Amino acid sequence: MKKQIAVLPGDGIGAEVAESAISVLKVVSEKFGHEFEFKKGLIGGCAIDEYGTPLPDETLTICRESDAILLGAVGGPKWDGNPSELRPEKGLLTLRKSLDLFANLRPVTVFESLAEASTLKFEVVNGVDLMIVRELTGGLYFGRPSERIGENKDAVVDTLHYTRKEIERIVQKGFELAQVRRKKLTSVDKANVLESSRMWREVVEEIAPKFPDVEYDHRLVDDAAMQLIRNPKQFDVIVTENLFGDILSDEASMMTGSLGMLPSASLSADGPGLYEPVHGSAPDIAGQGKANPLAMILSSAMMLKYSFNLSEEASAIESAVQNVLNEGYRTQDIADSHSPVISTTEMTEKVKAA
Ligand code: NAI
Ligand code: MG
Repeated sequence: MKKQIAVLPGDGIGAEVAESAISVLKVVSEKFGHEFEFKKGLIGGCAIDEYGTPLPDETLTICRESDAILLGAVGGPKWDGNPSELRPEKGLLTLRKSLDLFANLRPVTVFESLAEASTLKFEVVNGVDLMIVRELTGGLYFGRPSERIGENKDAVVDTLHYTRKEIERIVQKGFELAQVRRKKLTSVDKANVLESSRMWREVVEEIAPKFPDVEYDHRLVDDAAMQLIRNPKQFDVIVTENLFGDILSDEASMMTGSLGMLPSASLSADGPGLYEPVHGSAPDIAGQGKANPLAMILSSAMMLKYSFNLSEEASAIESAVQNVLNEGYRTQDIADSHSPVISTTEMTEKVKAA
């Protein structure tokens, strides 16, 4: 299979972990006989420095012409004081919007050898394997008006806006993902108080008959938040709107013990998908070879699976990561008292070998 992959390393450790993912993908392409061409582009702070904008046209063009996009992370103290149009994060937001990446997938997999590092009890998290599917381009974060109102501007309004179409496409995605996983979908809403949630429920009911083999239920978001801590193993795929998904996915992420372990994907209806670690550019450890590359490497496995339909190749990466962890290799963020700490490149080499 021949594919073009846009690589946007970004800033800080983004650049370090992007190199790790490329070198792992090269091993995969050799082993399985694929041809991956990597095209690099600037985004974030480095793009501001070079072109005066966080998302140069050239980068957007490379992304549009590619089959998938790998992104490291953006941002850093150097650009913190910039006006909003010249902030590194603006590059990422514009990219998501330009490519209509409405479905954000965040898998939370607790590897047995790391379950001790979780903030929750070992028995509760060991074996957790769930995915949160968050609507990313609508809802409260994009509703207008969003402003101070009234004569004295001492009242506020935010608007939660969704169209039926927007709900349909994310719910459909949730069912599709559940179907290729353990066939269980939990739709999360607040239908006891929100009209948007009542429409959300209707849409789930309308789409469900298309997936007779998928078992599904509805949960209120407060209950879902509680159940994620009490018994996370009951979940397979959770589909929800933007705000609820933002909060639940951060909550769920703490089960893995480190930000350095969490991959993500953002998908559109038919254009290239964007794959990136959940973590940021980690300026505190940038340039020191300490970054955990596994979140980025696991993001590239998601790319193989969801954009290229290469499940076997994706599993090869995931098992390699699992084996390396089982052997006790740790970067500093996931280190415990009885494992030697290795660097970003050493971890990458271990995964490639595995
Ligand atoms: P961060 O995720 O960069 O770092 C939080 C903490 O986790 C730090 O102590 C860092 O050292 C550690 N950490 C993160 N990833 C790690 C890894 N792979 N291996 C080992 N340790 C890791 O979040 P923070 O500090 O809030 O933000 C730093 C910069 O990154 C800011 O400029 C922020 O705007 C940006 N950011 C960018 C994101 C993106 O590009 N998607 C997401 C979040 C933050
Ligand atoms: Mg968040």
